[in-house]
Amino acid sequence: MVAILAGSFDPLTNGHLDLIARGSRLADRLIVAILRNESKSPLFSVEERAEMIREAAAAWPNVEVDSFEGLLVDFATQRGATMLIRGLRGVSDYEYEREMSLMNRRLAPSIDTVFLLADAQHSFVSSKLVKEVFRLGGSVEGLVPSFVAERLKRAVC
Ligand code: PNS
Repeated sequence: MVAILAGSFDPLTNGHLDLIARGSRLADRLIVAILRNESKSPLFSVEERAEMIREAAAAWPNVEVDSFEGLLVDFATQRGATMLIRGLRGVSDYEYEREMSLMNRRLAPSIDTVFLLADAQHSFVSSKLVKEVFRLGGSVEGLVPSFVAERLKRAVC
């Protein structure tokens, strides 16, 4: 069974990494799919984000990294995936995720979304906040892998 964990991953956080580890146990193959969306003005290119995820996920042989444009369900269908994995950090994520999941199921009824409750220690961590804290000189230790923190230094300084 092939599952997809899609997102922007700009950059990868320890919360994403926890979802990758747990997703890799649920599926035979887990594809981490980076959305190609330049309108979001990402800090890191898709290639840089893919490199970081590959480095972090090297320990899980059934995890691969790819990128996509257009509808996620079309990418999932092309890749033979039947499960979309999403993390839920709290109620603030819920409504957006509920709408996306229902829309995706309407578009592709044979593909289901499975929600994993974010681990408590990651439930406040987002790529957006990590970038903001880093830019303003705060510590992001423990929120992202150490090599991601190094890349942040190079990208922001
Ligand atoms: O990291 P994010 O921003 O939470 O990820 C959101 C993502 C990439 C899963 C979502 O924006 C997405 O699936 N985009 C692809 C376009 C699409 O399929 N839109 C319809 C979803 S209902």
